[in-house]
Amino acid sequence: MRWSLQKLAPRLAVSSALWYAASFVAVPTAAAGAASSAAAAPWPNGPFATSDRWMTDRSGNIVTYAGVNWPAHIDVMIPEGLQYQSVASIVSKIKSLGMNAVRLTFAIEMIDQITHKDIPISKAFTDALGQENGTAVLQKVLKNHQGLFDENTTRLQVFDAVAAECAKQQIYVHLDNHVSKAGWCCNPLDGNSWWGDKYFSVDNWKRGVAYMANHGKKWTNLMSIGLRNELRVPILSGGTPEPYNWDTWYNRMREGADDVHKANPDLLIFLSGLNSDSDLGPVVNQQPDKPLVSGGTANFSRADFKGYGNDKLVLELHYYDILRGSKPQDCAEVDQELDEAGFSALGNASSNVQEATDRFPVLLTEFGFPQDSSTYTQTMHRCTEQFLADRQAGWMIWPLGGSYYIREDTQDYDEPWGLLTHDWSDWRSPEHIQNGLLPLTNASQAASGGRPPPPPAKDQNQDGDDGKKSGGVQRRSASSMGLSIAPLGLWAAMTYGIISLVL
Ligand SMILES: *[C@@H]1O[C@H](CO)[C@@H](O)[C@H](O)[C@H]1NC(C)=O
Ligand SMILES: *[C@@H]1O[C@H](CO)[C@@H](O)[C@H](O)[C@H]1NC(C)=O
Ligand SMILES: *[C@@H]1O[C@H](CO)[C@@H](O)[C@H](O)[C@H]1NC(C)=O
Ligand SMILES: *[C@@H]1O[C@H](CO)[C@@H](O)[C@H](O)[C@H]1NC(C)=O
Ligand SMILES: *[C@@H]1O[C@H](CO)[C@@H](O)[C@H](O)[C@H]1NC(C)=O
Repeated sequence: MRWSLQKLAPRLAVSSALWYAASFVAVPTAAAGAASSAAAAPWPNGPFATSDRWMTDRSGNIVTYAGVNWPAHIDVMIPEGLQYQSVASIVSKIKSLGMNAVRLTFAIEMIDQITHKDIPISKAFTDALGQENGTAVLQKVLKNHQGLFDENTTRLQVFDAVAAECAKQQIYVHLDNHVSKAGWCCNPLDGNSWWGDKYFSVDNWKRGVAYMANHGKKWTNLMSIGLRNELRVPILSGGTPEPYNWDTWYNRMREGADDVHKANPDLLIFLSGLNSDSDLGPVVNQQPDKPLVSGGTANFSRADFKGYGNDKLVLELHYYDILRGSKPQDCAEVDQELDEAGFSALGNASSNVQEATDRFPVLLTEFGFPQDSSTYTQTMHRCTEQFLADRQAGWMIWPLGGSYYIREDTQDYDEPWGLLTHDWSDWRSPEHIQNGLLPLTNASQAASGGRPPPPPAKDQNQDGDDGKKSGGVQRRSASSMGLSIAPLGLWAAMTYGIISLVL
């Protein structure tokens, strides 16, 4: 998601949505060794697991997500774009890039309604868009999906259709709980920020993520789920948020992960960071005592995730220029920031970044920028894509579509950041596709299919004791990202709050 200070001139975009599209596990490549047995295993060859810094399929071959965010968490709570194009043609567009994954976002509110009294898509559209426009948009959706949807189709049946089409075209699905109350995410005032926030009920959240994990058992291609998108400081929300600190994060994430694992033990579980998913320091560096997440004493331990801590946990981060304030000078600066945020858990971190105490797969599940003919060449964006290719990290760009049914009260909202045009028919930036995304997807596929290399002998202690010690002596400097970026996000949040009060 991205949040924008609409009443201010500059657009403060933060982000969201992920899709992935990734790789053909059946195609062995040169990356990390020869894949031999994979060709025989039927796609998707799950369940997936983790091995050191890699995600792997059932045969132990590397899987690297390369994909895109497909939002389905905004007011209507139906995957976007279906009034313009069919599910099949949209998935074909994704496939044409060589992507292998989709980050499909959902709102907890949808599950609240399902468990109370579910509604058909006809009502979903008129509730969100009004009788006249809702009916008109529904008719377009039905016209594009004859024989597939009718007025009584439910929202979850639309999700089912998206997952089925993705399976048909060999695209993995990653579910992401984006918000509690449906709507554009993620300004700190929206009541969706943190456990206990106005709309962020702990119980409903746990029920919702477990419900979707369980429901997704009937999708052959649901491989993973993100517990919550962009946790952030709750401000002026009208709720009673729990303390914004590392201990709350750790305890609640564990509870959510336990419930998801109980509902569907096959899924990889993605943990997103603090400060709008810009900081995983406490997981990666055993460093709970940072100024903005003070009060925490818990130490991250895989053993606390009973039965799945060793092979199901994946880390995710987001990277947007609004979170950093100024533009980076060069790729070294981008590499260092991404490593400090948590990519160091891949190993091979920038030379001046503290070595991570443990290894995890780390994915950039959101990044994005306006899809015009030149923005992708800016240092920040060019270097981010280069980083993902060089480090063989998985990713999902934000977002797929060029418009939303409704966003922040504007219907048929145009999305200049969308890979696709307003009517989801073509690429907005053929230049970025050709010179940025195709080479990146290609590089990510090259990382798939091979065997993970054996972990380096050094610093691979399973119990983490030695790692913790070395993490302890190599604390990172105060100039690192956690300290430079987070306050900016907070500053932006507070500015928004103050301006809202004034207006
Ligand atoms: C209904 O749709 C029309 C055409 O897209 C748009 O101009 C109008 O603002 C919409 N109505 C509302 C209430 O948003
Ligand atoms: C939708 O459900 C209503 C009420 O059960 C029924 O009258 C109507 O025929 C259904 N519509 C379709 C297209 O099946
Ligand atoms: C976390 O680790 C530190 C350093 O090893 C230790 O002092 C602290 O007591 C630990 N916290 C908990 C809750 O065990
Ligand atoms: C990462 O480090 C390992 C050893 O720790 C090395 O074998 C590998 O080549 C490195 N990869 C890159 C991309 O530098
Ligand atoms: C994809 O990678 C292969 C080698 O791995 C290379 O030959 C080809 O040119 C690449 N294509 C693009 C679009 O980068």
